[in-house]
Amino acid sequence: MSDAAHDRAEAETLPEDDVIAVVLRQHATIRDMLAKVANTAGHARLQAFTELAALIKAHERAEQSVLRPVGADVEGKRSAKARTKEEAAADEALLGLDGLDVDGSDFRDRFEAFRTMVEQHAEAEEEHELAPLRDGVPAEERVRLGQAFLDAVGAPR
Ligand SMILES: [Fe+2]
Ligand SMILES: [Fe+2]
Repeated sequence: MSDAAHDRAEAETLPEDDVIAVVLRQHATIRDMLAKVANTAGHARLQAFTELAALIKAHERAEQSVLRPVGADVEGKRSAKARTKEEAAADEALLGLDGLDVDGSDFRDRFEAFRTMVEQHAEAEEEHELAPLRDGVPAEERVRLGQAFLDAVGAPR
């Protein structure tokens, strides 16, 4: 079972732009933001949810364009397909949350399920996509991928 602190600690052991570190740090941010949405209410919750939804969309897009093709080479196409399928399910869940009263029980229940889904997805990526990259892809290539990932997310560097 991973958590934000664990993700950040593991990222610290790698070069700054290594794609594994970049993705781990984003997973940590996503985990923190999931908790923030769960633990706030009203306007603050709506704002946190809007930011979270935008980050997750950008993150998954970058994974699909930069990480997935490499992951499919290293770990196999079946795992890559499973991850992309989970991302489609998360997308669907986000659509279901969109426009709901963030303080209503429908939002709360759906968000709880969404949070579990996203956390399990991040863990599956860490185990089946990121871990194999450590041995399967040279460090310089991982840094190049990390920079491409940040460009794809649109994050400042
Ligand atoms: Fe993902
Ligand atoms: Fe991810």
